[in-house]
Amino acid sequence: MTTPTETPATTTTRTMLAIEGLTVGYAGAPVIDGMRLDVPHGAVVALLGANGAGKTTLLRTVSGLVRPRSGRISLDGQDLSGLSVEDRVRRGLAQVPEGRSVVSELTVEENLHLGALWKIPGRSARRAAVAEVYEAFEPLARRRRSMGHQLSGGERQMLALARALVARPRVLLLDEPSLGLAPRVVAQLFAILRDTAERTGLTVLLAEQNVTSALSIADRGVVLGLGEIVADAPAAEIAADPALRHAYLGF
Ligand SMILES: Nc1ncnc2c1ncn2[C@@H]1O[C@H](COP(=O)(O)OP(=O)(O)O)[C@@H](O)[C@H]1O
Ligand SMILES: [Mg+2]
Repeated sequence: MTTPTETPATTTTRTMLAIEGLTVGYAGAPVIDGMRLDVPHGAVVALLGANGAGKTTLLRTVSGLVRPRSGRISLDGQDLSGLSVEDRVRRGLAQVPEGRSVVSELTVEENLHLGALWKIPGRSARRAAVAEVYEAFEPLARRRRSMGHQLSGGERQMLALARALVARPRVLLLDEPSLGLAPRVVAQLFAILRDTAERTGLTVLLAEQNVTSALSIADRGVVLGLGEIVADAPAAEIAADPALRHAYLGF
């Protein structure tokens, strides 16, 4: 028997990343304590909080680099518990860690092919995936023969992002991509990110200390403080809350 309150089949708010009862720590007190978070399919979520709030720890736990003490993380309904980093990547997770790591001794194009190598079978399919990424990242297309070490900071970050996207992940975890970049470069990078999310339905969890920039492209903002989520609301609401900004975001 079906109940009258059943969710309609046309619902567009499917949860892509579900975090339940998550507790993570190193030595001593937990950094994340009993967290619950739902990231809807196709949403861009800004993960905010002061330095040391646990943003990187959360991203690394989702990607499988850090093992939680307890709790459950699922991707599109599939439990990720116990899966290796590689298995999570195969299921559609991609992480761009802090520090825009690209291979300095390879060209832009070779870096992009490397990003596709294990995830997209067949040379011609990989070439198509790289070509697709160039359409969104025009500055990289112009620099395709340049070596990684010849790129500016902004171009390196763009390449790190493009390299993660070339494998067409379902969920992208980004750790402070704006760090050390000029405002104009951040705006360009974030515009590409927003555009890609809209075009492809990519779900993004974007950890940032650059609160204003992150909220300007995010659908939702999630604020971490003292091991838990202190706010989870539409981006505009977070941006307009002076008490929240003052207490947890430092401005
Ligand atoms: N590898 C680690 N070993 C021990 N403590 C860590 C480690 N990584 C982070 N921490 C601690 O966990 C807390 C959260 O850090 P982190 O997740 O890096 O926060 P954020 O990215 O928000 O700045 C901090 O107190 C930090 O010192
Ligand atoms: Mg961090």
